Amino acid sequence: MTERTTGPTTPHDPAVVVVAGALYDRGRLLAARRSAPVELAGRWELPGGKLEPGESPEEALVRELREELGVEVEPGERIPGEWPLKPGYVLRVWTARLLSGEPRPLEDHDALRWLTRSELDSVDWLDQDRPAVAEAARRLPAA
Ligand code: CDP
Repeated sequence: MTERTTGPTTPHDPAVVVVAGALYDRGRLLAARRSAPVELAGRWELPGGKLEPGESPEEALVRELREELGVEVEPGERIPGEWPLKPGYVLRVWTARLLSGEPRPLEDHDALRWLTRSELDSVDWLDQDRPAVAEAARRLPAA
């Protein structure tokens, strides 16, 4: 999508926060395959995007998942931790519950999969998403 936010310009600028969602529905977690940029294309992530000025992380998550997937979600709890992305960007993850809609890869992704706990290792997650995915897995049914 449009790059509205640029990275920090001085070492003292706060990092840009990227909010991603561990989206659950009926005992499965949603994985999204990135279609761009080229260095990330083909890798799987928890869908999300950059916080915009004046937004809470929960508001950003609801907006991003509406834009990228065409669904309405209810944010839940934050998964503890913060993971560095490219310089000046950090990833924070919230759980979320699907309220309505069937996710479609409208923007930034070219494939989606709902994964049970035993299927989580079947996709090539972005390295920075792996700790959050591991934590998200603990909230899925064991079967
Ligand atoms: O949609 P928007 O342009 O706001 O953000 P994005 O391009 O989806 O994500 C911003 C940056 O965070 C990109 O470099 C993504 O690769 C990264 N990201 C990530 O590493 N893991 C995620 N779960 C979501 C985004």
